[in-house]
Amino acid sequence: MKLLAINGSPRKKWNTAMLLEKSLEGAASQGAETELVHLYDLNYKGCISCFACKLKDGKSYGKCAVQDDLTPVLKKIEEIDALILGSPIYFTTVTGEMRSFLERLFFPYHSYTDPPLALLPRKIHTGFIYTMGVTEELMVKFGYEKHLSRNAMFMQRIFGSSESLFSFDTYQFEDYSKFVADRFDPEEKAKRRKEIFPLDCQKAFDMGSRFARGKG
Ligand SMILES: Cc1cc2nc3c(=O)[nH]c(=O)nc-3n(C[C@H](O)[C@H](O)[C@H](O)COP(=O)(O)O)c2cc1C
Repeated sequence: MKLLAINGSPRKKWNTAMLLEKSLEGAASQGAETELVHLYDLNYKGCISCFACKLKDGKSYGKCAVQDDLTPVLKKIEEIDALILGSPIYFTTVTGEMRSFLERLFFPYHSYTDPPLALLPRKIHTGFIYTMGVTEELMVKFGYEKHLSRNAMFMQRIFGSSESLFSFDTYQFEDYSKFVADRFDPEEKAKRRKEIFPLDCQKAFDMGSRFARGKG
């Protein structure tokens, strides 16, 4: 059983990465083989509209033909049993790197037939872990969910299942006193980090553990 996690945050040790690590720990606790890929270590672009993945009788039909650092990652996704993607929210959506990755992941598997077909023959459990500065109320008020639910929709169409975990009001800096950021109350942030973030970590652990047991 192989579970791959993909980190769409530039930070390798902060909120998103920590939650992804927890999901891997959960999967490993059930005996799964795990791997974490950091997108910011890789050189790649989003979809370049070459349409090789849509070419009639093309050798890359249903696959991304672009050769760059994402090529081995996309290949790996054809062989794994579960996939967890993580991203911070930047300006109401996933980071640019995660977005570019999603274009390359979704487009080849999403056919232009009528009706559209999912061209990945294997069905696996997938999850998204989002971390963000706002509270749950503000996420709803600003309508982030509407957009993020489209990611879940495409994941579900292609991979057969998808779930989303949200971590709100995250701890952004190690030392709030060093930054011009009086919008945030450092004590409240620290309290939340201590009391709520561990619950999010537990949810991430559970996600990994469930996926490794073949349960959605
Ligand atoms: C460039 C940038 C833009 C951000 N935009 C938003 C936003 O629109 N909404 C939000 O809730 N948080 C926003 N944040 C906060 C991050 O989403 C939040 O701190 C996240 O947990 C960071 O993830 P990390 O610790 O894995 O880097 C932004 C942070 C940065 C650096």
